[in-house]
Amino acid sequence: MTQTTETTDNSSAAKPTTVPVLLVPSHKIDVQLVVACGLDRAIGERGTMPWYVPDDLSHFKELTLRSCVIMGRKTLESIGKALPHRRNIVVSSDFTLKDRFANIEVVSSLPLAIERAKIARPWAEVRCEERCRVHYYHTVSIIGGAQLFAEALNYANTLQVTQLWARFPHADTFFPEVERKNWRWECMPQQCAGRDTFFFCAAPQPEGFAQEIPPLDEAIVQDSRTGEVLDREHLPQGLCYRFSTFRRKKEMRPVDDAGTESGANASVSAETADVAEAGTSSAEAPQEA
Ligand SMILES: NC(=O)c1ccc[n+]([C@@H]2O[C@H](COP(=O)([O-])OP(=O)(O)OC[C@H]3O[C@@H](n4cnc5c(N)ncnc54)[C@H](OP(=O)(O)O)[C@@H]3O)[C@@H](O)[C@H]2O)c1
Repeated sequence: MTQTTETTDNSSAAKPTTVPVLLVPSHKIDVQLVVACGLDRAIGERGTMPWYVPDDLSHFKELTLRSCVIMGRKTLESIGKALPHRRNIVVSSDFTLKDRFANIEVVSSLPLAIERAKIARPWAEVRCEERCRVHYYHTVSIIGGAQLFAEALNYANTLQVTQLWARFPHADTFFPEVERKNWRWECMPQQCAGRDTFFFCAAPQPEGFAQEIPPLDEAIVQDSRTGEVLDREHLPQGLCYRFSTFRRKKEMRPVDDAGTESGANASVSAETADVAEAGTSSAEAPQEA
């Protein structure tokens, strides 16, 4: 259980009041993995992300708000602080992280992180005033980076993928290859007039990071704000993206909490098609405030 505060609208009072919210796991928790990646499965470069797509940050926020996130130590350092209004569990061998970052819990392995996310935070760690609101979360999101994703693929039931229509030639961190046959594409990419559709988010891209944008010959490009179909040959600064959700097939159950494999094949394999190439969408976290 973690403490977070939020402002509630109090219509009878002139001033809004701030009520602490305790995030508590519900009895049934789904483990999902949330990632944004390029066509080359790039997820990071020099400790950050080589793109800026505000729509994806909003999508990430929507997926993770008022629930629990699990991240690797470098991802925490990349974000620079615990994500607000979420329970933050960090996987690291460095337990002194707690002295440098407020509102985090540190555990030494991913199975321990998942186990911890399924129980309430020790009461001694929670500073809750008399008046607080309990919010039960149903989802635990593993939000990266690459090192954590590689192991997390064995535990997640759901993949929330944002596919960015770009390659990042100097990226140094990549999403692992995914065994596609274990996953059912639940939400098809958006379609317009029976054709693959990408959204376009106009935003200046960060300086000093190379991006290669291949032509979108077959797809329709829609403005993410207005839905207007855009001329894909003459797009302003920004990136095309789409979101996809994959569910693990029933017969491919994830490993259990003890770390033993219970499914027919829950492992990551090098011979598989790649979720990014499969045409999905992406989402992100590290740049989010
Ligand atoms: N595009 C996206 O969706 C996305 C999401 C997240 C991050 N990123 C990017 O990814 C990069 C960081 O990823 P990264 O792979 O370098 O680092 P990371 O996975 O965030 O952190 C690595 C560290 O976390 C701990 N750790 C990770 N997996 C572990 C495991 N299975 N068991 C035990 N400890 C584990 C270790 O900490 P100790 O060394 O302290 O023991 C390890 O050194 C950044 O560039 C970031 O911007 C992108």
